[in-house]
This record gives sequence, C-alpha cells and structure tokens, in this order.
Amino acid sequence: MDKKIEQLKCFESSPKGENSTTNFGVKISNDENTLKAGPRGPSLLEDFVFREKMTHFDHERIPERIVHARGSGAHGYFVSYADHSNLTKASFLSAKDKKTPLFARVSTVQGPRGSADTVRDVRGFAVKFYTDEGNFDIVGNNIPVFFVQDAISFPDFVHAGKMEQQNEMPTGGSAHDTFYDYISLKPETAHTVMWVMSDRGIPLSIRHLQAFGVHTYRLINAQGKSTFIKWFWKPLSGTLSLLWDEAQKIAGKNGDYHRKRLWDDIEAGDFPQWELCVQILSDEIIEKFEFDILDPTKFIPEELAPVTPVGRMVLNKNPDNFFAETEQIAFCVSHVVPGIDFSNDPLLQGRIFSYLDTQLSRLGGPNFNEIPINRPVCPFANTQRDGIHRMTINKGGANYFPNSIDGNYPRPKEEASVKGGFLPYPEKIDAVKTYKRSETFNDHFSQATMFWNSMSQHEKNHIVDGFSFELSKVTRRNIVERVVNEFLINIDKTLAEKVGKNLGVTVEPKVTKNIQKKLVKPSPAISQVNL
Ligand code: HEM
Repeated sequence: MDKKIEQLKCFESSPKGENSTTNFGVKISNDENTLKAGPRGPSLLEDFVFREKMTHFDHERIPERIVHARGSGAHGYFVSYADHSNLTKASFLSAKDKKTPLFARVSTVQGPRGSADTVRDVRGFAVKFYTDEGNFDIVGNNIPVFFVQDAISFPDFVHAGKMEQQNEMPTGGSAHDTFYDYISLKPETAHTVMWVMSDRGIPLSIRHLQAFGVHTYRLINAQGKSTFIKWFWKPLSGTLSLLWDEAQKIAGKNGDYHRKRLWDDIEAGDFPQWELCVQILSDEIIEKFEFDILDPTKFIPEELAPVTPVGRMVLNKNPDNFFAETEQIAFCVSHVVPGIDFSNDPLLQGRIFSYLDTQLSRLGGPNFNEIPINRPVCPFANTQRDGIHRMTINKGGANYFPNSIDGNYPRPKEEASVKGGFLPYPEKIDAVKTYKRSETFNDHFSQATMFWNSMSQHEKNHIVDGFSFELSKVTRRNIVERVVNEFLINIDKTLAEKVGKNLGVTVEPKVTKNIQKKLVKPSPAISQVNL
C-alpha cells in the first residue's frame, strides 16, 4: 500500500451496525424523534442530542474555492523514468522507477461547485506529490499560457469572467458583457482567449487533457546549477475535445460527465495516465526566443525547445470521501522541495502569496496542513503551535529558538549546513524599485496570430463559431464592435471579418496596435549561472 493511503487509513471511520452515539460517546436512545413536552407538545431546548445533530448539519458547508470551485480528484502515483540528478536534486526524480504517491484534482475555473463539467473554460490541473522530502505541487492548467501578465490583475480578470455581481448570471460560462468588455480593453489576454475559444476549451474528458505548469520554473542540481524549465503533462490517451454542440447538450443532460468518466474508468481498472515532461530552456534557446521567458502569456514551441519525458503519473484510486479529500486538499505553487525553485514571472510571484492566503479562510485557519489529505508523508517539526483546530499535541514547555530547555526541535543552523534543506537559487539582483512592466512583455498579438495560423481549416471554423456564439450573448453593441475592430483584427483579418459578418459588424479597424516583436536578450540576472 502506498504511504499516503496508509496514512489516511488512520483517520478512517466506518461504524457498521453499532448504536449511534453523540460526538462525545453517549449512546443515543432515539434518533428519529425530538424530545417534546408530550407527544403533541413543543420541542424542548434541553434536547442536546437534537441540537448537536442539527448544529453539525447547519455547518457542513465550507466556502467553495474562489476560482476552480468545480473539480474532481483521484489518488495515484508517479514513477520516475530515470535518475534526473543532472537537472535537479529533488529526490522524487533521483532514481529510475522511484515511486511517489500523489493526489490530482482537475477543475473548471469560473463556474461554481455545482456547475457543469463540459462548459467552455480553462481546466485546472493540480497535482500534489507526497515526496519523501515534503509535498511538491504542480498547480497547472490545460492551456500553456495565461490571460494576464501580472498577479495584480488577477482579481479584475476573475471579476470580469465570473457571474455579474447584481444578479449572479450567467453561471459557469463566459458569454457576457463583462468578460468581453475586459478582454477587449486588455490586449495581453489575446493569446489565451484564442486557446479557450479553440477546441482546447471543451475537452472530451479528464484523461484526454494535456496540461502545463505555464510559468518558467528553475531546477537546481546538487552542484547548484540552475536550469530554467517548463512543466508539461502529456496524456497517454491523447488530447481530444468535444464539439461545441455536444458540449452544450452534455452540459444540459449530465453535468457530471467528466467526473463520472474519471470515476468509472478508475473503478474499471482503466487508469488514466500522463507523462510528466520538462521543456529545458538552455541559454542558447533563451537567446533565440523572441519573447521573455518570464512572460506567462507566451508559449515556447516544441520545435525550439524539445519536451523531454521524465516520468509517468497513474491515477488508480478514487477518493473514499469527496469532501475529506477532493474538497479539502490545498494546492499551492509555493509547495516546492529542494531542487525546485521559482522564476521572477510576476504572475507566479503573486500566486506564491494567494493560495495560502485564500486557504486560511476556505479551510478555517492556520492548521489546515493537519487535515489528513494535506499532511506530508515525511516527518515535520517546527515551533508553530496553537490556533483554531490544532490537532497536534506538541510536547515540552519550550518551543522557541534558541532554547536550552527542550531539545525537541532540530535547529536550523547555518543555511549551508542544513543537508537537504530548501535553499532559494542565489540569483543576483541589482535593481531599482519600480511599478514599470518590462518592455519585453509588450507584444500581445504575435503569438495569438501564430496560434491561429497553426490551426487546420476545421479548427479555424470552430474558433470563428466559438467567438460568434459567445459574442452573440453580449448585449452592448459597442463591446462587440470593440472585440472585432480592436482585438480580433490584431490577431487575423479573416478571423475578424468572419466573426464580424456573423454578428453584423463591419470591420473598421480603429487601432492597429500590433506592437513590434522584441528580441529578448536575457540579462545575467535571469540566465543560468553555474555555481
Ligand atoms: C486555484 C489564485 C493563476 C491554476 C486557485 C485559487 C486561488 C487562485 C485563490 C483557489 C485555491 C483554493 O481555494 O485552494 C490565482 C492567482 C493567479 C492564479 C492569484 C494569478 C495571479 C493561475 C494560473 C494557473 C492556476 C496561471 C495555472 C498555471 C489553478 C488551479 C487551481 C487554482 C489548478 C485549483 C487547485 C485545486 O484543484 O484545488 N487559484 N491563480 N491559477 N489555480 Fe490559480
């Protein structure tokens, strides 16, 4: 049995045929009738059995995730294909056939918890590896780029895509005035919007999703050598999509379409599998690449930087309890292990803060790391204590550093002397504080055009149909005209004309903002350094 499943077993409870008790162990004599003043009289306040049961029920719900509320998850494992210690000292990648337990959760982004699986949207693809050096999460999406370049825009982007605040309509989709208003005023969204409007936005099933870490990360080996990489997940079942008409009909008939298929496939032993791959961004490739590797709206084509498989993920066990596992799991991009580090992508930097922050309220305080699904399988110890819902009984009187009373805690001494400890890459930074965005982030349309040009004719038709359908739901004419004449026109003239024709909009480009491509020469501060 894998280490994580074994750990979860300690928390299981499945009483069978036993007498019901209160939460404090007292046998209940009547679980179907409240205590009353006579069989036809009013109920009595002293009925603590009724009050305990009802109070617990009244508090069953926790806040759903602010985004990615609708999701399905499963347990599984990862097997490393080889010893990858030339790239990283992360131990889960350190030996051929090394097996690491994991839990994966796949989600839509905008819809609430009860919304349909097959709506047009990005799909979240989050994997928590329970490694022997602590938890490592890849919190990715099924689209390799993102809508905005800086984390400070994320709340605005989500407000524009979610239900409108006055009436909570529409649910689960993105076909409304606010979303198209926002994207047409925010050209950096162009590339990702094209992916969402393509067949990628309506996947056939979870097992047919390709997924990406999106940001550039660093891998660091034992010698301190850093290599920039991107994470890719390649489904062994292939990447397949629905047709828009199918997606809509299925959403009406079976909102759980993706969730059910994942569940049924695992129950039948037909386990979904993905290869984890890294795209290695050598200095040579970074030099040639026309965009900034820190810009999350840009994709690095495989022709420029090949994608190398490093291992395989298998999802082979359904959760025993949806709430305990799929709902309470807490992913975070800051869950890294030694050998993995961040880049300065300003979207990633903001995410490092946001996930822990939101989980403090979603999961009820600072001790959510103690919830069984979130516990690491390796030992952990530090001086944190107390707080709401604390389960650990920390022993000894002195829990501070330095102390001469209890030797309970291993003390982190000098950074360098902590063998196997996490160390950030010692990137040299010599800069002036500024709100300014790098000029190397300025070209918003070239890759949207590249994406359009890479499509076959029927895929192009699907994109035209997608925009035409979505924009037909926008009620304000000026927004529709802006999308056609200031957004689509900068991606491709034929695309703008075809969508314009379907919506009765004459193509009259107002601004042709196609900004010149900038050749990015990475400064020594972001390139690899051998220590
Ligand atoms: C979930 C914030 C961008 C992938 C979430 C949640 C928040 C959040 C607050 C809910 C977490 C929870 O309640 O546990 C942000 C911010 C972003 C950002 C501030 C940009 C600044 C992205 C990007 C990706 C992504 C670029 C993909 C690369 C996910 C996934 C989940 C998620 C997969 C669901 C995790 C789960 O299954 O529990 N995000 N996000 N997010 N985000 Fe982001």
